[in-house]
Amino acid sequence: MEWVRITSVTCDDMAYLFQDKQAQEVLIMDDLFAEMKSPEPSRQDLAEGAVLLRQRALDVEDKLLDGVCQISNRAPFRNMMTPGGFSMSVAMTNCGRAGWVTDRRGYRYQENDPETGQPWPEMPDVFCELAEQAAAEAGYEGFSPDACLINRYEPGARMSLHQDRDEKDFQNPIVSISLGLPATFQFGGLKRTDEVKKYLLQHGDVVVWGGASRLFYHGVLTLKDGDHPKTGHVRYNLTFRKAY
Ligand code: SIN
Ligand code: FE2
Repeated sequence: MEWVRITSVTCDDMAYLFQDKQAQEVLIMDDLFAEMKSPEPSRQDLAEGAVLLRQRALDVEDKLLDGVCQISNRAPFRNMMTPGGFSMSVAMTNCGRAGWVTDRRGYRYQENDPETGQPWPEMPDVFCELAEQAAAEAGYEGFSPDACLINRYEPGARMSLHQDRDEKDFQNPIVSISLGLPATFQFGGLKRTDEVKKYLLQHGDVVVWGGASRLFYHGVLTLKDGDHPKTGHVRYNLTFRKAY
Protein backbone atom coordinates (compact mmCIF):
# COMPACT_ATOMS: atom_id res chain seq x y z
CA MET A 1 0.00 0.00 0.00
CA GLU A 2 2.69 2.48 1.05
CA TRP A 3 4.86 1.65 -1.92
CA VAL A 4 2.04 2.13 -4.37
CA ARG A 5 1.67 5.66 -3.09
CA ILE A 6 5.35 6.45 -3.25
CA THR A 7 5.69 5.25 -6.82
CA SER A 8 2.71 7.39 -7.80
CA VAL A 9 4.68 10.60 -7.12
CA THR A 10 4.31 12.74 -10.23
CA CYS A 11 6.88 14.70 -12.28
CA ASP A 12 5.64 17.81 -10.59
CA ASP A 13 6.36 16.25 -7.22
CA MET A 14 9.83 15.27 -8.37
CA ALA A 15 10.68 18.84 -9.30
CA TYR A 16 9.48 19.88 -5.89
CA LEU A 17 11.41 17.05 -4.26
CA PHE A 18 14.68 18.39 -5.59
CA GLN A 19 13.87 21.87 -4.34
CA ASP A 20 12.77 20.82 -0.90
CA LYS A 21 13.42 17.17 -0.19
CA GLN A 22 12.44 17.35 3.45
CA ALA A 23 9.11 19.03 2.78
CA GLN A 24 8.32 16.47 0.09
CA GLU A 25 9.04 13.62 2.49
CA VAL A 26 6.63 15.16 4.97
CA LEU A 27 4.06 15.44 2.20
CA ILE A 28 4.45 11.80 1.22
CA MET A 29 4.13 10.80 4.87
CA ASP A 30 0.98 12.90 5.19
CA ASP A 31 -0.52 11.02 2.27
CA LEU A 32 0.51 7.68 3.76
CA PHE A 33 -1.00 8.48 7.12
CA ALA A 34 -4.15 9.77 5.46
CA GLU A 35 -4.55 6.49 3.62
CA MET A 36 -3.64 4.26 6.55
CA LYS A 37 -5.80 5.91 9.18
CA SER A 38 -9.52 5.45 8.94
CA PRO A 39 -10.65 9.07 8.90
CA GLU A 40 -12.62 10.34 11.84
CA PRO A 41 -13.88 13.69 13.07
CA SER A 42 -11.27 15.50 15.15
CA ARG A 43 -10.04 18.94 16.14
CA GLN A 44 -6.49 20.15 15.71
CA ASP A 45 -5.00 23.53 16.58
CA LEU A 46 -2.84 24.80 13.69
CA ALA A 47 -1.66 28.04 15.28
CA GLU A 48 -3.01 30.62 17.72
CA GLY A 49 -6.52 31.36 16.42
CA ALA A 50 -6.47 28.62 13.75
CA VAL A 51 -8.29 25.29 14.04
CA LEU A 52 -8.78 22.31 11.71
CA LEU A 53 -12.12 20.55 12.23
CA ARG A 54 -11.73 17.27 10.38
CA GLN A 55 -14.89 16.00 8.64
CA ARG A 56 -16.99 18.80 10.14
CA ALA A 57 -18.88 19.27 6.84
CA LEU A 58 -19.52 15.59 6.11
CA ASP A 59 -23.09 15.40 7.35
CA VAL A 60 -24.19 18.04 4.81
CA GLU A 61 -21.82 17.06 1.97
CA ASP A 62 -24.61 16.42 -0.55
CA LYS A 63 -26.40 19.67 0.27
CA LEU A 64 -23.16 21.62 -0.12
CA LEU A 65 -22.37 19.98 -3.46
CA ASP A 66 -25.91 20.55 -4.66
CA GLY A 67 -25.53 24.22 -3.71
CA VAL A 68 -22.26 24.50 -5.65
CA CYS A 69 -23.97 23.00 -8.68
CA GLN A 70 -26.93 25.39 -8.52
CA ILE A 71 -24.73 28.44 -7.95
CA SER A 72 -22.43 27.58 -10.84
CA ASN A 73 -25.43 27.19 -13.16
CA ARG A 74 -26.19 30.87 -12.59
CA ALA A 75 -22.67 32.18 -12.02
CA PRO A 76 -20.37 29.86 -13.96
CA PHE A 77 -16.85 28.99 -12.81
CA ARG A 78 -14.24 31.06 -14.61
CA ASN A 79 -10.46 31.47 -14.52
CA MET A 80 -9.96 35.08 -13.48
CA MET A 81 -7.02 37.26 -14.42
CA THR A 82 -4.54 38.51 -11.82
CA PRO A 83 -3.65 42.24 -11.82
CA GLY A 84 -0.32 41.18 -13.37
CA GLY A 85 -2.13 39.56 -16.33
CA PHE A 86 -1.90 35.85 -15.44
CA SER A 87 -4.89 33.54 -15.70
CA MET A 88 -5.50 31.76 -12.37
CA SER A 89 -5.31 27.96 -12.50
CA VAL A 90 -8.14 27.74 -9.94
CA ALA A 91 -11.60 28.45 -11.42
CA MET A 92 -13.87 30.56 -9.21
CA THR A 93 -17.39 31.71 -8.61
CA ASN A 94 -19.18 33.30 -5.64
CA CYS A 95 -22.40 33.42 -3.71
CA GLY A 96 -23.62 35.88 -1.10
CA ARG A 97 -23.84 39.66 -1.14
CA ALA A 98 -20.19 40.22 -1.99
CA GLY A 99 -18.12 38.24 -4.48
CA TRP A 100 -14.33 38.23 -4.62
CA VAL A 101 -12.99 39.08 -8.09
CA THR A 102 -9.70 39.89 -9.73
CA ASP A 103 -8.82 41.43 -13.09
CA ARG A 104 -6.29 43.93 -14.43
CA ARG A 105 -7.79 46.56 -12.10
CA GLY A 106 -6.95 44.56 -8.96
CA TYR A 107 -8.39 42.31 -6.27
CA ARG A 108 -11.69 43.39 -4.72
CA TYR A 109 -15.21 42.46 -3.67
CA GLN A 110 -18.16 43.42 -5.82
CA GLU A 111 -21.87 42.77 -5.64
CA ASN A 112 -22.40 41.89 -9.31
CA ASP A 113 -20.88 39.06 -11.28
CA PRO A 114 -18.70 40.77 -13.91
CA GLU A 115 -19.52 37.98 -16.39
CA THR A 116 -23.30 38.36 -16.23
CA GLY A 117 -23.81 41.79 -14.64
CA GLN A 118 -26.23 40.09 -12.22
CA PRO A 119 -25.99 39.96 -8.42
CA TRP A 120 -24.22 36.83 -7.18
CA PRO A 121 -26.57 33.97 -6.26
CA GLU A 122 -27.78 34.06 -2.67
CA MET A 123 -25.80 32.14 -0.08
CA PRO A 124 -27.75 28.94 0.67
CA ASP A 125 -28.80 28.60 4.33
CA VAL A 126 -26.87 25.36 4.69
CA PHE A 127 -23.63 27.15 3.67
CA CYS A 128 -24.17 30.00 6.08
CA GLU A 129 -25.25 27.82 9.01
CA LEU A 130 -22.26 25.51 8.72
CA ALA A 131 -19.83 28.44 8.43
CA GLU A 132 -21.33 30.13 11.50
CA GLN A 133 -21.31 26.93 13.55
CA ALA A 134 -17.75 26.01 12.60
CA ALA A 135 -16.58 29.55 13.43
CA ALA A 136 -18.30 29.36 16.83
CA GLU A 137 -16.67 25.98 17.54
CA ALA A 138 -13.31 27.55 16.75
CA GLY A 139 -14.01 30.38 19.21
CA TYR A 140 -15.53 32.99 16.87
CA GLU A 141 -19.08 33.39 18.12
CA GLY A 142 -21.35 35.64 16.02
CA PHE A 143 -19.56 35.28 12.65
CA SER A 144 -21.96 36.29 9.91
CA PRO A 145 -20.38 35.93 6.44
CA ASP A 146 -21.54 38.08 3.52
CA ALA A 147 -19.18 36.47 0.99
CA CYS A 148 -18.55 32.90 -0.10
CA LEU A 149 -15.85 32.31 -2.70
CA ILE A 150 -16.08 28.90 -4.37
CA ASN A 151 -12.79 27.59 -5.77
CA ARG A 152 -12.63 24.69 -8.19
CA TYR A 153 -9.27 22.91 -8.47
CA GLU A 154 -8.64 20.50 -11.30
CA PRO A 155 -5.46 18.39 -11.31
CA GLY A 156 -2.51 20.73 -11.86
CA ALA A 157 -4.24 23.74 -10.27
CA ARG A 158 -2.62 25.43 -7.29
CA MET A 159 -2.86 28.56 -5.21
CA SER A 160 0.39 30.20 -4.27
CA LEU A 161 1.05 31.63 -0.81
CA HIS A 162 -1.03 34.72 -0.12
CA GLN A 163 -2.79 36.63 2.65
CA ASP A 164 -6.54 37.29 2.62
CA ARG A 165 -6.58 41.04 3.07
CA ASP A 166 -9.30 42.46 0.83
CA GLU A 167 -11.86 42.51 3.65
CA LYS A 168 -12.77 45.65 5.65
CA ASP A 169 -12.32 44.27 9.13
CA PHE A 170 -9.77 41.65 10.09
CA GLN A 171 -11.61 40.97 13.37
CA ASN A 172 -13.71 38.42 11.49
CA PRO A 173 -12.32 34.94 10.86
CA ILE A 174 -12.18 32.96 7.63
CA VAL A 175 -13.94 29.62 7.34
CA SER A 176 -12.75 27.22 4.65
CA ILE A 177 -14.55 24.01 3.65
CA SER A 178 -12.90 21.35 1.48
CA LEU A 179 -14.86 18.95 -0.73
CA GLY A 180 -13.73 16.27 -3.15
CA LEU A 181 -10.12 15.40 -3.92
CA PRO A 182 -7.56 15.88 -1.14
CA ALA A 183 -5.09 18.76 -1.32
CA THR A 184 -2.07 19.90 0.64
CA PHE A 185 -2.80 23.15 2.45
CA GLN A 186 0.16 25.31 3.44
CA PHE A 187 -0.19 27.46 6.52
CA GLY A 188 2.64 29.82 7.41
CA GLY A 189 2.92 33.00 9.42
CA LEU A 190 2.64 36.78 9.10
CA LYS A 191 5.66 36.98 6.81
CA ARG A 192 5.90 35.26 3.44
CA THR A 193 9.25 33.82 4.51
CA ASP A 194 7.94 32.31 7.78
CA GLU A 195 8.07 28.54 8.09
CA VAL A 196 5.13 26.86 6.40
CA LYS A 197 3.39 23.78 7.81
CA LYS A 198 1.50 21.40 5.54
CA TYR A 199 -1.82 19.70 6.17
CA LEU A 200 -3.64 17.28 3.93
CA LEU A 201 -7.20 18.61 3.64
CA GLN A 202 -9.75 15.95 2.73
CA HIS A 203 -13.40 15.83 1.79
CA GLY A 204 -15.46 17.41 4.57
CA ASP A 205 -12.59 19.08 6.45
CA VAL A 206 -13.09 22.63 7.72
CA VAL A 207 -10.34 25.11 8.63
CA VAL A 208 -11.07 28.29 10.59
CA TRP A 209 -8.47 31.00 11.09
CA GLY A 210 -8.74 34.42 12.69
CA GLY A 211 -7.42 36.42 15.64
CA ALA A 212 -3.62 36.16 15.80
CA SER A 213 -3.49 34.12 12.57
CA ARG A 214 -6.05 36.08 10.51
CA LEU A 215 -3.37 37.44 8.18
CA PHE A 216 -1.20 34.32 8.04
CA TYR A 217 0.12 33.35 4.61
CA HIS A 218 -1.53 30.24 3.18
CA GLY A 219 -1.76 28.37 -0.11
CA VAL A 220 -2.54 25.06 -1.79
CA LEU A 221 0.04 22.85 -3.53
CA THR A 222 -0.58 21.55 -7.05
CA LEU A 223 -3.61 19.23 -7.00
CA LYS A 224 -2.78 15.64 -7.85
CA ASP A 225 -5.08 13.67 -10.09
CA GLY A 226 -7.52 11.34 -8.42
CA ASP A 227 -11.11 10.18 -8.60
CA HIS A 228 -13.37 11.15 -5.73
CA PRO A 229 -16.72 9.35 -5.41
CA LYS A 230 -18.59 12.65 -4.93
CA THR A 231 -16.74 15.05 -7.25
CA GLY A 232 -14.67 13.00 -9.71
CA HIS A 233 -11.43 14.73 -10.71
CA VAL A 234 -12.14 17.92 -8.79
CA ARG A 235 -11.56 19.61 -5.45
CA TYR A 236 -13.90 22.39 -4.32
CA ASN A 237 -13.10 24.83 -1.59
CA LEU A 238 -15.63 27.22 -0.10
CA THR A 239 -14.22 30.20 1.81
CA PHE A 240 -16.52 32.32 3.91
CA ARG A 241 -15.61 35.84 4.84
CA LYS A 242 -17.16 39.07 6.03
CA ALA A 243 -16.16 41.44 3.26
CA TYR A 244 -17.94 44.62 4.39
C1 SIN B 1 -7.97 30.25 -0.47
O1 SIN B 1 -7.02 30.60 0.21
O2 SIN B 1 -8.76 31.06 -0.97
C2 SIN B 1 -8.20 28.81 -0.78
C3 SIN B 1 -7.77 27.84 0.24
C4 SIN B 1 -8.09 26.40 -0.18
O3 SIN B 1 -8.40 26.15 -1.35
O4 SIN B 1 -8.03 25.51 0.69
FE1 FE2 C 1 -6.90 32.65 0.87
